[in-house]
Amino acid sequence: MGKTRTLRLVWGLVAVFLAVALASGSAALAQGKITIRFAHADPADPYVAQKHAQALTFKALVESESGGRITVEVYPAGQLGGEREYLEAINLGTVEMGVASGAMAGFFPEAMVFDIPYLFSSEAVAWKVLDGPMGEKISALLAEKTNMINLGYGEVGFRHFTNNERPIHTPADMRGLNIRVQETPIYVRLVQSLGASPTPIPWPEVYSALDQGVVDGQENPVSTIDYAKLYEVQRYLTLDGHTFGVDFTVINKRFFNSLSPEDQELLRRAAYTSARVNRGIKALNEALALSKLQQEMEVYAPAPEELAQFRELAQAPVIEWLSTQIDPALIDEVLQAVAEAEASFASGQ
Ligand code: MLT
Repeated sequence: MGKTRTLRLVWGLVAVFLAVALASGSAALAQGKITIRFAHADPADPYVAQKHAQALTFKALVESESGGRITVEVYPAGQLGGEREYLEAINLGTVEMGVASGAMAGFFPEAMVFDIPYLFSSEAVAWKVLDGPMGEKISALLAEKTNMINLGYGEVGFRHFTNNERPIHTPADMRGLNIRVQETPIYVRLVQSLGASPTPIPWPEVYSALDQGVVDGQENPVSTIDYAKLYEVQRYLTLDGHTFGVDFTVINKRFFNSLSPEDQELLRRAAYTSARVNRGIKALNEALALSKLQQEMEVYAPAPEELAQFRELAQAPVIEWLSTQIDPALIDEVLQAVAEAEASFASGQ
């Protein structure tokens, strides 16, 4: 066989090999083999961390309902970075999905509308607002303004101050304290308006920042303070419930839009259920954590007149600032939605 014929034969075989490889690749594509990387920064324990409970439920539902055609890889505990880092990746499309709260504001300032201090009077009112037209409006705006789609709201819960210096009964006790906040400008304003100094620190670094005295205090729901063992490095807890943290379940828009309508529906259904698992785990842990923390920390529940001082100092200035960051009509709408949700519980409708 001449050299040219041999070369032709080799190239022919390579071409056949490539054609088979491409064909099997497109067969895999046709069968819709899909991998979703799902990130969060909470511990890999579904019984204490609502984001992990949500991620595992989503994974189980998606994998079983798709017959294993769609794989969900869960990356907990900040394996793909803190909230800001994995949100950046989801917005870029290098990670498909995740659940995040405070850091959302860095990508979508309108998320802060739910962080208005002393906005929600109860968890039930917050859930009604999130599940109603206001929640839908914020999701629609997110899809319009970013490369992310919100597939469901979970909750982080009512947030409270802890510190190592002194009991906080009124805002006057906060003066001079250095408080860790989420990487969210509204929390910076909130803490400033109460007379303390805010320091944004990513969640995975909070325990050691408190342990090393980089900051005097922080703010989080009781179940978060419990599972993160912040009571080991914080002495005083003040139950002021200044904000109700909301978890957004976000997926990259381009990725989601590339899926078939059937797969989009499957993901939406799985996200709907798993976001409710998130809320259920959080609500349960919130209910159970306080009695435990009372053994570990000095806990203070401000009297109504003391709470009024917190609200008076924080709410109006934060709303004024927020009106310069987002469409002020959204603030009126959330206040209206809260009033309607409260009225619906009061009237039993
Ligand atoms: C934070 O303070 O960064 C968050 O509340 C932590 C969390 O999402 O559990």
